[in-house]
Amino acid sequence: MVSPSPQCANHVMEKAASRRRFLKFLAASPLLARGTAQWGLNVAEAADSGAPEHTPIASPNDALNVFDFEPVARQTLPPAHYGYLATGVDDDATLQANRTGFSKLQIRARRLVDVSRIDTSVELFGTTWKTPIVLAPVGSQKAFHADGEIASARAAGARDHLMILSTGSTTSVENVTSARGRPIWFQLYPTDAWRITQALVKRAERAGCPVLVLTVDLPAGRNTETEARFARKDTRQCASCHQGFFRHKPMFDGLDLSGVSFSFPGLTWEFVRRLKDTTKMKLVLKGLETREDAALAVQHGVDGIIVSNHGGRAQEGGRATIECLPEVIEAVQGKIPVLLDSGVRRGTDVFKALALGAKAVGIGRPYIWGLAAFGQPGVEKVLDILTRELALMMRHAGVTSLSKLDRSFIIDGRRQ
Ligand SMILES: Cc1cc2nc3c(=O)[nH]c(=O)nc-3n(C[C@H](O)[C@H](O)[C@H](O)COP(=O)(O)O)c2cc1C
Repeated sequence: MVSPSPQCANHVMEKAASRRRFLKFLAASPLLARGTAQWGLNVAEAADSGAPEHTPIASPNDALNVFDFEPVARQTLPPAHYGYLATGVDDDATLQANRTGFSKLQIRARRLVDVSRIDTSVELFGTTWKTPIVLAPVGSQKAFHADGEIASARAAGARDHLMILSTGSTTSVENVTSARGRPIWFQLYPTDAWRITQALVKRAERAGCPVLVLTVDLPAGRNTETEARFARKDTRQCASCHQGFFRHKPMFDGLDLSGVSFSFPGLTWEFVRRLKDTTKMKLVLKGLETREDAALAVQHGVDGIIVSNHGGRAQEGGRATIECLPEVIEAVQGKIPVLLDSGVRRGTDVFKALALGAKAVGIGRPYIWGLAAFGQPGVEKVLDILTRELALMMRHAGVTSLSKLDRSFIIDGRRQ
C-alpha cells in the first residue's frame, strides 16, 4: 500500500491542477475529437455501438456515468498511484469477474405500479441512511487528491452516505468524523500485536464510531502485478513517502510499532471473539465469501458481514462477490445484515445486490476516480449518479421501496 507524506500530497495537488487545466484544453480540442486508446474501454464500446466517441470530461457535471471519471483520474495521477488504485492481483481475473458477475444477472421488471414516490432509504444497526450506497474503506486517499479523506467525508456528508474509514487513512478518525458531520464506521486491519489493535479500537470508540469493520481477506500479503508495472513507469523519487508500512499514518500516531507486523497469517476466529469481547462497537467482518464462514460469523456473535474480495485485490479466487452473495445470505438466515462490495459501478448493480439480499453496497474505485479527478465535487457527482441510476431502475421495475425488493426480481442467466 502507498503511504504518501504531506510533501507528496502537495506534489499530487500541484500536478493535478496543471493536468486538469491541460485536460480542459484537450477536451475542447479537435485533436481529441476522435478519442484515443488511453481513454479506455468506453471509447471502444462507444465505437461498437455507433455512439459518438467519448471526449474526456472537464467537470463533474459533464459525467454521464461513473466510468467517465476513470480516464481523468488516470491522466491526473502519477503512474504509481494510479496503479495502486487500478490493480487487481495476479492476472486481474477476480477484478474482471466482479464486473461480469453482475452482467450474468437479469432484472425482471414489473409494470403498472405507481412509482411516483421512491424510497431508497435503508436502516443499518438502528440508523437510517437516505441511500444504500456506502463509501467503502480506501486507504491513503491523499495519494489521490490533496484533500484526501476530508473531501470524501464532506461529499458523503453533503449527500448523506455512510462512510467507512480505513486504518490506513491519511487523515485521523477525529478529523474525518468532524468533516462527515455524522458518525462514521472504522475499518480495522489486524496486526500481530494485540496492544495496537486495542489502541486503534479505543480511539475509534472515543471518536464516536458505532461500528468496527474487521477486514479479514488480507492476512498474508498479495501479488499486485498491475500495480508493480505502473510503479516501474513512475520516474519520481518515492522513497521519502514510503518509509515503513503504515508507520506514519495518523491512526498510528503515538504508538510504538517496533516489531509489529501487518502481515498476520495467524488471524483466526479466536481473534474475532477477543475483539468482540473488547469493544462496545458493533463488529462487522469484511471479506467473507462462503456459507461456512458466514455461519461461523453468526456463531461467534458477529453483528454483520460485508461480502467482499477487496475489489479483486486480495486473492485471485476468480469468483465475483455477487456470485458469493446468495450462499452467505442463505447461511445467515436473516440473523445479521449482509452488505456487498466489489465491482459495483451502476445503479442496476446495486439493485441486483439488494434483490439478492444485501442490505447495502460499498463502492471503492468509483468514488476515488471522482476524488482524483475533481476532489469533493467529483465524489459528490459519483454518488449522485449511482443514486439516480438506482432510483431509475426501481421505477422501471415497479419497486417503490427497497424493503419490497427480493429475489423474484432477478433471473440468473447461467441457470436458465
Ligand atoms: C486503492 C484502494 C485502497 C483500499 N484500501 C482498503 C483498506 O484500507 N481497507 C479495506 O478494508 N479495504 C480497502 N480497499 C477495498 C475497498 O474497501 C473495497 O472492498 C473495494 O474497493 C470494492 O471494490 P471496487 O473498488 O470494485 O468498488 C481498498 C480498495 C482500493 C481500490
